[in-house]
Amino acid sequence: MFKTTIITVSDRGYRGEREDKSGQTIKELLHGLDLEVIDYRIVPDEKDQVRDALIDTIDNLGSDLVFTTGGTGLSPRDVTPDATLDVIEKEVPGFAEVMRAESLKKTPHAMISRALCGVRKSSLIVNLPGSPKAVAECLAVILPALPHALSKLKGDPSDCGTP
Ligand code: MTE
Repeated sequence: MFKTTIITVSDRGYRGEREDKSGQTIKELLHGLDLEVIDYRIVPDEKDQVRDALIDTIDNLGSDLVFTTGGTGLSPRDVTPDATLDVIEKEVPGFAEVMRAESLKKTPHAMISRALCGVRKSSLIVNLPGSPKAVAECLAVILPALPHALSKLKGDPSDCGTP
């Protein structure tokens, strides 16, 4: 089981003014997979707090996989990708590229999301947009590749080319 964290980034969610349907959607869509949600939090759209949450869940709780939802767009307070960039050591552009490409088939607004994905230590961080609909659409695209990505990240030495 890979230890998984969900971080919802939302000022209104943090203040209790909006139910966190996106975080719930992620939880539901992970059900039955080889992923155990060990940590779930809501943080405001503050770069320092997003960054601290990412570092804490990876460095202190040992999370293997972190999904953020929200704060990827162009609103003045959207800072999730910027906080993510501060804590990752390598970017994994393919995840963000494929999410945007597939999402564009659903809405032209997909190109507004600055979501990025990357690696800190041996953990993968995936930014997802903020709406439950966007979360479901983006997760559907990347879930098939996640087990292999996480195995490789944990040092699986097997040869991918072997049938
Ligand atoms: N991606 C998918 N798959 N489906 C969507 O409905 N909405 C877009 C985009 N990505 C959307 C999507 C919209 S409207 C915005 S503004 C951006 O994500 C950024 O959203 P965020 O700031 O909530 O992260």
